Amino acid sequence: MVEFELLDRDGLARIGRFDTPHGRIETPALLPVVHPDPTRQPVSTSEIRRRFGLGTVITSSYITWRTPALRGAAERSGIHGLLDFDGPVMTDSGAFQQHAYGHVEVGPEEILEFQNRIGSDIATVLDVFVEPGVDHAEAEAGVGTTIERARAARRARPGLLAVPVQGGAFDDLRARSAREASALGDVLAIGGVVPLFEQYRFAELARTIASTRPHLSPGRVVHLFGTGHPMTFAFAALFGVDLFDSSAYHKFARRGRLLFPEGSIAIDELRERTCRCALCEEIPLPAVAKLEPAERERRIAEHNLLTSAAEMGVVRQAIRDGTLWELVERRATAHPALRAGLSAARGRGEVFFPTEPASRRAFRETGPSSYDRPAVRLFRERLARYTRGLPPARTLPRIALSPDYLSRVPLATRTGEPLRWESETSFGRVPVELLELYPIGPCLSSAEFESMGRRTPSDLTAVLRATGSEEFDLERDWTEEWTDLEVRSRLLWQYGSPSAEALARHLLRGQRSRRTGRLRGILAGDIPVFQIGNDGLPRPSFRGAEMLRAALPPPRARVIVHADAIGFVREGRSLFSRFALGADADLRIGETGILVDAQDALLAVGRLLLAPHEMSCLRRGVAVRVTAHAKRPHEPEEADPDEA
Ligand code: GUN
Ligand code: ZN
Repeated sequence: MVEFELLDRDGLARIGRFDTPHGRIETPALLPVVHPDPTRQPVSTSEIRRRFGLGTVITSSYITWRTPALRGAAERSGIHGLLDFDGPVMTDSGAFQQHAYGHVEVGPEEILEFQNRIGSDIATVLDVFVEPGVDHAEAEAGVGTTIERARAARRARPGLLAVPVQGGAFDDLRARSAREASALGDVLAIGGVVPLFEQYRFAELARTIASTRPHLSPGRVVHLFGTGHPMTFAFAALFGVDLFDSSAYHKFARRGRLLFPEGSIAIDELRERTCRCALCEEIPLPAVAKLEPAERERRIAEHNLLTSAAEMGVVRQAIRDGTLWELVERRATAHPALRAGLSAARGRGEVFFPTEPASRRAFRETGPSSYDRPAVRLFRERLARYTRGLPPARTLPRIALSPDYLSRVPLATRTGEPLRWESETSFGRVPVELLELYPIGPCLSSAEFESMGRRTPSDLTAVLRATGSEEFDLERDWTEEWTDLEVRSRLLWQYGSPSAEALARHLLRGQRSRRTGRLRGILAGDIPVFQIGNDGLPRPSFRGAEMLRAALPPPRARVIVHADAIGFVREGRSLFSRFALGADADLRIGETGILVDAQDALLAVGRLLLAPHEMSCLRRGVAVRVTAHAKRPHEPEEADPDEA
């Protein structure tokens, strides 16, 4: 089976790689659809790789099989010989022609055998294309036949196999089809959705993918049939699509249409030089419009390949930066249909929860709907737990709350009654001691920019007087109380109430950064036990992990290490996923887990790169990046918190 290695990610979206007989494929990857007859191609396959950096293509084994001259050539010199291409080639099976023409003339065994014979790197099962509008019975029959054929294909196929997932608009059938495909396929190809793409039915598309995606094994490669328009790439990547096939670059070129991430434009309507890419510097688009037809089509196809490849690069970079939601929201403004799709995706937010990271570097608002992202929904859930049963709070404007001001905000009245403070934020009312947490801390909201230049309550004393005046002692310095509150609140946030209380018995104290005044570490005596990251979350040192292990009953916060990897992990090496025996299902990607052996002895501490449910499915790559490990007792513990 395929060995998919995950290298970087943003939620479900993944930067990864896997090997084929003709080389490695790095995902997400755009696979241009090429015609098996080279004379029908506006741009040759080798040019596509050389000039546009697209190193993998997909072609139709069915058209090859059906056309005697092509079949002969492919049987003699293989599909790579026919295409004059030595990179990875995926072949499709003919189900699309079933959709387009109502039937195919080949049987499932024969077309699979043919794909084997011509040396396809990824062969595809001849599935039944289930049209989106059919009833449950018909969809179920299509799924059943596809599964039967996939079982037979698996037995007949030694190499990589793509198993399509069908099921129309039915959640139960999509789920079943996805689970069966996961057991049989290396590449799991979400199918039957071309009409949704063509008719801009992106809300249905989102619901279809949402009912499929959770049932696809994280260890396999996810393909989406029909994602040709660059406008949809970010949207599809958000759902964790790894492979995109594009015939749009050519289809649109035939109709004289230029592809852009913002939509498509008819070249005949273009009077201005709106594009300054290398191609358009050579011949400006208005001049391309006047070329003779074949040349004109070729130039437009090249332009379309270029913008498609560039958008794929933008998507990949957004995944690395953790800004894919921002990108999708921006792309969704291109067309109301895409906005409807995004809205439907948010409506199925729970699909994203299992792989939602504990934090990202930034949270940039693009519109009111940014506050419905999964990150915000998870934050609100935890916030509700945190504030349950707390007494009412008074309000402080957030603008007045730099750390040095905070020292003057009283945490008790003159008569000793405790005080709570909250600020109004774009996420709702939030306790002041939590304002640094992701997603609030790094949030860039329009509300902040709106209040810029307005008369702001810069005089904190005046603000406090206005809220309650004589009750407070405004001369007192409350730094210590705030520090204690922040320490307690971060541990409570992260570990819940009984565990936070158990940790508090260690007489913890907070340490602030000398430079920014923010909480940066938690000490027990003089020993650093937690560092506070930029996301505001506490991350245990090795000594902190020892405390956690005592305070949290198993399996909480644990990742259990296979006996064969214990020695490596104790020395500080990363934990590879195949050596992760199990993990606390509540741990999130990016959180710090404690690595223990089967007897719960502590080995190391590290950051999760995979969600717990993914660890057993991925056989390659790192599951936990170790940050501190078992040391000999005389070695000093790390880190001045200001260095963090
Ligand atoms: N091409 C576009 N859609 C499909 C599909 O559902 N199945 C297959 N095999 N190819 C496709
Ligand atoms: Zn251009």
